[in-house]
Amino acid sequence: MPNDGPVRADVSNGIGRIVIDNPPVNALSHDVRAGLLSALAELEKDRSCAAVVILAAGRLWSAGADIREFERPTQDPLLPGICTMIEDCPKPVVAALHGSVLGGGLELALGAHYRIALADTLTGLPEVSLGLQPEAGGTQRLPRIVGAGPALEMILGGKPVTAQQALAAGLIDKIVTRELATEAQEFAQNLVEQRAGPRKTCARAEGFRNPEEYWTALGQAKDRVNRLHPDLMAPRLAVQCVEAAQMLPFAQGLALERSLFDDCVASPQSAALRYGFFAERKATKPPSGTVEPRVVDQIAVVGAGRAGTHIAQTCLGAGLPVTLIERNAGTLRSAEKRLNRLKAKLTLTGNLGGVRSSDVVIDATADDFDLKSELFGKLGELAGPEAILATNSSDFDVNALAQKTDRARDLIGFHFVGVQGQGQLVEIIPGAETDPAVTRTLFQLAGKLGKTAIRSGTGAGFVANAMMLAFREAADYLLEAGANPPEIDAAMRGFGFPSGPFQMLDAEGLDIDLARRSRRSPEREADARKIDINTRLLERDWRGRDSGRGFYRYTDDASRGVEDPEVAALIDEAREEAGIVPKTFPDEEIQRQCVLAMMNEGARLVAERVAQRPSDVDCAMIHGFGYPAWRGGPMYQADRIGVAEVLLQLDEMTDLAPGFWSPSALILRLAEENRAFADLN
Ligand code: COA
Repeated sequence: MPNDGPVRADVSNGIGRIVIDNPPVNALSHDVRAGLLSALAELEKDRSCAAVVILAAGRLWSAGADIREFERPTQDPLLPGICTMIEDCPKPVVAALHGSVLGGGLELALGAHYRIALADTLTGLPEVSLGLQPEAGGTQRLPRIVGAGPALEMILGGKPVTAQQALAAGLIDKIVTRELATEAQEFAQNLVEQRAGPRKTCARAEGFRNPEEYWTALGQAKDRVNRLHPDLMAPRLAVQCVEAAQMLPFAQGLALERSLFDDCVASPQSAALRYGFFAERKATKPPSGTVEPRVVDQIAVVGAGRAGTHIAQTCLGAGLPVTLIERNAGTLRSAEKRLNRLKAKLTLTGNLGGVRSSDVVIDATADDFDLKSELFGKLGELAGPEAILATNSSDFDVNALAQKTDRARDLIGFHFVGVQGQGQLVEIIPGAETDPAVTRTLFQLAGKLGKTAIRSGTGAGFVANAMMLAFREAADYLLEAGANPPEIDAAMRGFGFPSGPFQMLDAEGLDIDLARRSRRSPEREADARKIDINTRLLERDWRGRDSGRGFYRYTDDASRGVEDPEVAALIDEAREEAGIVPKTFPDEEIQRQCVLAMMNEGARLVAERVAQRPSDVDCAMIHGFGYPAWRGGPMYQADRIGVAEVLLQLDEMTDLAPGFWSPSALILRLAEENRAFADLN
């Protein structure tokens, strides 16, 4: 019986026991699969064994296939074969589940004849988020038990279901409350006593009982995937497989699933998403070292504008009590209305003394350095001695603010990125004197808030907004040369962004953008643009979505905004005054220029150590602004076309606006050394 390696097996009281033990997440790597194969073979032969239970050690049952192995040729035994071997076992097999049971982990469990689980177990098929679909019978076995609707929800949504939901759907047979191994042993012994025998999932048909329901669910899933970007493969192929589950014999369905899975693994979009998976984990790792994080039980947010309200809402959503402080009574009242639902853990006050009992104070007041200096001076006195003083500002140097308080060790930047801070990203910006425990605490807090975190240096704009500014600047040059905002926005949506740069600008507010640009201008070369539409719009008080007009016109029922002929006329007029003969730009050219600008800016941020590594820049764009994850991010794409090619393209653009398009020194260096951005990750 195998007892070394990541799979152990033994027999006790007539029940064979297999334990998967492959820390940290019991990924089903080659040696696990080989271990399972030999354990199963032994137990099948062993006459003293009447039934088998499969358990796993550690905090979760299995995170599924070993994602790193997809970068190499696959090695036998493969997972589908193991699942079939489990299913074909002549003795009943029980999977005893706990923690997370994901992807191939769930497929393994579906190969078993019975499933029991602890009450807090989560089961899911998250493969589509890696550009993959299930590979080992997930699309064939799951719908046979639960039907097409619930199966497709798990496969396309990627979100795990609770043990209670799994029990209701028939996916598991029992929720257990005592020690899992003991309950599993008893469950298996019971099966033996009742001569229950194997119950093969491939022979089950509860999920097919109502064919009409099955087809309706398939139709809805097809509508759902048709709304996705047309280039996205995995969700479409998964629907095809679930359709095949009902139409084809089981073995043929399995073969189809496997062959479509192979197509997914080999696709550039899955490679990009796998890169993104590890890039995110690398970015969100707190700095190394053994410092203990500080305790965070209570948050204070100062400033109840949209950003402050969103931050308060995010913290409340994560179960943290929040004191929201705002001296303008009207603003406080509207925040109260917006947060009404979450009132139980919310305290609203106009008094800064409200920060006293908080562990983290987050400043979300307007970006005005003098006001912030004064605020941090006061916070330093009012907040508890262990409290962390964080600022959501995206513009000010943490080190400069630190000089305004004697609490430099407690001070840190904590920037909620995205339009009004509503992206999935936060930037953590320690100053020169920030206590490492403070940095660590905020990485942990970001995780608790469900945000992806990257560490940023103190350079103006940090990583995310600097990238966004470069994106918008490229869009502005395109506008000047002849492409109108709706065309540029449509091209970038076609690329995969949820909204284009002018839509994002309207959502954020043109006034806010202008203030940010003017604060940054001393550090950047004079603006080489010949026309400035933003200022013309602002002169008319068209500030964007909030004022009803910006680059688009907004009515209550048009959330995206509609094209505005008056804006188009303003642009025509400005071009004419500047003597510009407008050119037309195909979508691909608009996309190329915008992404090229991001590549160049990303390189500059890495060179200046504002970004820790190129993959952090990719994380910032994906999680901050909705850059399509399946393209990997601008730095990843730069490596795909090659840094030398990026340099060539930048050289071609340089004359148009040297201050903007000149290649970053890092691009010159990498091209010369024939290296890639990935070498710096
Ligand atoms: N294959 C290989 N490595 C994996 C992995 C997998 N399926 N799942 C997680 N890991 C690694 C992570 O990269 C990380 O490694 P590191 O410490 O070297 O950075 C480590 O396991 C812990 O993962 P992490 O995500 O940091 O832990 P968590 O507790 O926050 O989350 C999971 C655990 C399982 C929810 C999460 O890792 C996850 O979603 N994994 C992927 C599941 C999946 O998509 N499976 C289908 C594969 S086709």
